[in-house]
Amino acid sequence: MPTLNRPENMERIATAEQARAYIDEQIADIRAQVGDKKVLLALSGGVDSSVCAAILIKAIGDQLVCVHVNHGLLRKGEPEQVIKVFREELGANLIYVDAVDRFLDKLAGLTDPEKKRHIIGEEFIEVFAEEARKLDGIEFLGQGTIWPDILESEAGIKAHHNAGGLPEDLQFELVEPVRILFKDEVRVVGKELGLPDSMVYRQPFPGPGLGVRCPGAITRDRLEAVRESDAILREEFAKNGLEGKVWQYFTVVPDFKSTGIRDGKRTFDWMCIIRAINTVDVVEVSVEHLPADLIDHLVKRITTEVPGINRVLVDYTPKPPATVEYE
Ligand code: XMP
Repeated sequence: MPTLNRPENMERIATAEQARAYIDEQIADIRAQVGDKKVLLALSGGVDSSVCAAILIKAIGDQLVCVHVNHGLLRKGEPEQVIKVFREELGANLIYVDAVDRFLDKLAGLTDPEKKRHIIGEEFIEVFAEEARKLDGIEFLGQGTIWPDILESEAGIKAHHNAGGLPEDLQFELVEPVRILFKDEVRVVGKELGLPDSMVYRQPFPGPGLGVRCPGAITRDRLEAVRESDAILREEFAKNGLEGKVWQYFTVVPDFKSTGIRDGKRTFDWMCIIRAINTVDVVEVSVEHLPADLIDHLVKRITTEVPGINRVLVDYTPKPPATVEYE
């Protein structure tokens, strides 16, 4: 299974029936590969790792050990959703690691975007490896690798973040039940497995999480402002029928303050930038032009409900010349 490639002419999985057949096939393959051994999986709550986990739970139940690392850079409600869906509803063997302080302490004072990304990636592997070492009898590593990851790695476009990375003493055989699927197929399979829409149709979210939406040195209060404004934006997009229609939307709170007035007193606070974009290939990106009354409403809610924000801006810059994220 680790070297399995997508068969040429494989029909695109689009229906519930095709998804069911795929799931049954994977269950049989996983059981044959793993036997009575244990599989370890880093479960971020993203579409790929969630669908991978749900297939593995069906196939081997308690032999799967999921580790969810909360690095403090997740969106509002995400760790809670992972625990609810996987531990409570699907009965997964889930280890929740609260590594918030650890990550934020390491990131304190760091302003260089590449250094921030590097520390987040390195620390993630460190925390995951520590958990892996506490467990006995793990022989396999589950991974939510999907087919575009393989294609991009082969084309040298992107070093595939899933493959490898763990230290020498933790080399496991891979189990990759969504490896030959494209993203749209992963979603069809996820839906068939009964995962909630908020997980299956989740918009893309970068590995370094809200860390890249808090440009400059990450502080807890500014990170909280990003998290709260992002939650308001998502809520309003859902209410206004834009969820699922707009490819990606988020807020950014740079380390920059401007003057304002609140309750007749001068304030000196951050600004919140709203960005909503559409794309097919992520190489070229166009902006979603938001309805004026929605912008007014977002300005009101964000400046009223999010501590530390006294100004809201909308970013209408396509890619190129701007990238999607700010760092
Ligand atoms: P950029 O900013 O490069 O973003 O125009 C293009 C898309 O990629 C996402 N992105 C990331 N995804 N790890 C990820 O998994 C990352 O480090 C990362 N950086 C950017 C971004 O959200 C957008 O959808």
